[in-house]
Amino acid sequence: MTNKECSDKGGRKGRDKVVLAYSGGLDTSVAIRWIQEEYDLDVIAVSIDVGQPPSQDDIIARALRNGALKAELIDAKDEFINEYAWAVLKSNAMYQGVYPLSTAVARPLMVKKLVEVANREGAKYIAHGCTGKGNDQVRFDVGIVSLNPDLKIIAPMRDHPTTREQEIEYAREKGIEIIVKKESPYSRDENLWGSSCECGALEDPWAEPPAGVWQNTADPEKAPETPEYVEIEFEKGVPVALNGKKMKGVELVEALDKIAGRNGVGRIDHVEDRLIGIKSRETYECPAAVTLITAHRSLEGLTLPRDTIEFKRTLEQKMCQIIYDGLWFDTLRGAVMAFIDKTQETVCGTVRMKLYKGSCTVVGRKSDNSLYDVGLSTYAEGDTFDHRSAVGFIYCWGLPGRTSAGVRRKNSKK
Ligand code: ARG
Repeated sequence: MTNKECSDKGGRKGRDKVVLAYSGGLDTSVAIRWIQEEYDLDVIAVSIDVGQPPSQDDIIARALRNGALKAELIDAKDEFINEYAWAVLKSNAMYQGVYPLSTAVARPLMVKKLVEVANREGAKYIAHGCTGKGNDQVRFDVGIVSLNPDLKIIAPMRDHPTTREQEIEYAREKGIEIIVKKESPYSRDENLWGSSCECGALEDPWAEPPAGVWQNTADPEKAPETPEYVEIEFEKGVPVALNGKKMKGVELVEALDKIAGRNGVGRIDHVEDRLIGIKSRETYECPAAVTLITAHRSLEGLTLPRDTIEFKRTLEQKMCQIIYDGLWFDTLRGAVMAFIDKTQETVCGTVRMKLYKGSCTVVGRKSDNSLYDVGLSTYAEGDTFDHRSAVGFIYCWGLPGRTSAGVRRKNSKK
């Protein structure tokens, strides 16, 4: 599929337009007709490619056959990795310590694209297929009004929840072309930065995820018996080469995803707190994201001073929350990101990772900006540290404690 495939059928005079976030799946295919009929709007179907698995057919042509006034495919893969996934990486952002925000961070980019199309086309509405129970509705709605407060939102799955069977029946009645995939018990979302899975057997948090849950990673028990090593080179906090080969972001993530995935790295099983207050059991597969964040954090350990690392941790936490909670377009995100970007200036160098049966471990790191000084740290020959200087430092460092102890002792004798 090419960038920005587009077709235009003119439209009915005087009819308002809606830009529909369209995936080609059952919900949004049915939504094209449903929105036309219920709201009397012309539908512009926009599909944003952030690396989700492609459909077996041409979803743009099908949207037009199903009655869309226009249908457009936007290739946003480079922008997704360079502007959004790298923000997660530089922030070492892992929601609740485990989830590298793969779905969450794609949403603001989708919002941006949808609003751009709406502005260009003079559409008054944006529609999406989110339900009323998840985080994504919040990310879409809040993002959209933060970019253009005049836009109104239509969410058919939230306003009129329907079952899969009802949708298939509606499609049959109206002659809507749909691709009916084999029914899956799971709800999935996937892009270049990772995939998520919920529902079905996963709704029992005690039940081990059945094998069918995992799609992009090898079972660690069956992964190769010999470890695989990768070297990742970073410049200013972002990866630029893999095993010595310079690569663009998308290419690097795709390549690393395969390598880490075949070693069973990046499986996550999590009971997650959604923004709207519901706890939900989800699994994720994020081989490249997990490997990159582990490597990146380690390179920061080599190249950043202790205070910077510690202070950055609090802002990483903030950044993670901002992205998860759908506040990408807030002033605070730009301000926090400016700090994080500043810290990345010296985060350059190479990290060596060992991938083995589900684990990824840092086994080496080097950098021209390394703050590690072997003369200072060695216990062997070549020690440059003046051991006696520690005495004065310790005297001052311990002074408040010494003073307090003296006062306590004086008072306890009274
Ligand atoms: N719980 C994750 C999040 O909120 C994943 C959501 C997946 N979304 C979906 N529509 N299946 O970021």
